[in-house]
Amino acid sequence: MRYTPLSAATYREHRSRFRQAMEKGGLAVFHSNDIMPTSADGTMPFHQAADIFHLSGIDQEETVLLLFPDAFDPKDREILFVRETSPSIAIWEGAKLTQQQATAQSGIATVLWTSSYEATLQRLLPQAKSIYLNSNEHLRQGNEVETREERKNKELRAKYPLYEVKRSAPIMHRIRSRKTAEEIAQIQNAVNITAKAFQRVLQFVKPGVKEYAIEAEITHEFLRNGSRGHAYTPIIASGYNACVLHYITNDDTCKDGDVILMDFGCEYGGYASDLSRSIPVNGKFSPRQRDVYNAVLNVQKEATKLLLPGVFLGDYHKQVGELMEKELIGLGLLDKKEVATQDPEKPLYKKYFMHGTSHFLGIDVHDVGLWHEPITEGMVFTVEPGIYIPEENLGIRIENNIVVTKDGQDDLFKNIPREVEEIEALMAKSRKKTLA
Ligand code: GLY
Ligand code: MN
Ligand code: MN
Repeated sequence: MRYTPLSAATYREHRSRFRQAMEKGGLAVFHSNDIMPTSADGTMPFHQAADIFHLSGIDQEETVLLLFPDAFDPKDREILFVRETSPSIAIWEGAKLTQQQATAQSGIATVLWTSSYEATLQRLLPQAKSIYLNSNEHLRQGNEVETREERKNKELRAKYPLYEVKRSAPIMHRIRSRKTAEEIAQIQNAVNITAKAFQRVLQFVKPGVKEYAIEAEITHEFLRNGSRGHAYTPIIASGYNACVLHYITNDDTCKDGDVILMDFGCEYGGYASDLSRSIPVNGKFSPRQRDVYNAVLNVQKEATKLLLPGVFLGDYHKQVGELMEKELIGLGLLDKKEVATQDPEKPLYKKYFMHGTSHFLGIDVHDVGLWHEPITEGMVFTVEPGIYIPEENLGIRIENNIVVTKDGQDDLFKNIPREVEEIEALMAKSRKKTLA
């Protein structure tokens, strides 16, 4: 295994939180993702479904988890099904988990082969009052492809139409949004690797380098540190490209005088990190670039302080909008009088800052969470204001990852530079090294 997984005790804790939210007599089923095809006999690398991973730590295809706290026989209260391994699988694909290994990883005593899942379900359902089925209820999910979980849900509902069905997703959003200590430590591991990649990039960037060459430096640093790679497709956007919010082609040349916006984060042990930094290609910001950079940095620092237990994310985003308005007026991009009379439904700052400031971070980079309840301790957010000025070929975003504590915040990226002077000094140092 490339990474050190969380302990079985943590997965027990996650399942215990789920059980506490279930109604009496409920039986919950969670499925893995499919291994997605490409073409011919090709496949994508396996990517485990976040919820079964959160509840079991099992990072293997065809795994099924069944939680049935009120089952008559204690052995039936938690059952994990894993793909049956064989000498042939061991030769062609490498060893799969044994039942003992699956128990050690997940803390689940009853581990059966996936082939016995259907029969086990049929045996247990008569004891159940309702079935909890899981689905992707992320606010912005828009996938056209049916997941394995959706396929299995359909099959189950067709076969057992008289059972009441309940939704697991709201419970998952609740328990995943408040991270346990080991989860925060794993996000910190991911952050630390991402930070190393940023340090590497500071030494590498100079006029004439290709954006994809920077991406390669980052990927190299990720892989050599035990990450499986990027938690999302990285954005390496120089000059005007930084104003294209989802720029991922990364195929331009970085030019002298441009700023390069980089948004990248490694995945480690199933958890994401999410960093944005904007640096001058030639090692020194122009006075205007510096002003815009510092405006974004001011908003980021002030916004971070607003993330406190009890605060609603809607109010937080409104306050950040006001901070941004002030900075944009200072930069001469907005007019104070026009801002005073603007339509509050269509604030003028959105012309230069058109995305949200913060999202939940965890197993998914845009993690699930409770958007309409107050923030609580243990939630992890990004803080990522940006200013995008296409007419100046300039886009700047600065993004850190923040844990909300009892009475403040812990910045997981606190050890990597973001002040103009620090970035310029580090880039100058590496330049001197290259010239020597
Ligand atoms: N990297 C995606 C985001 O910053 O939300
Ligand atoms: Mn990002
Ligand atoms: Mn982000």
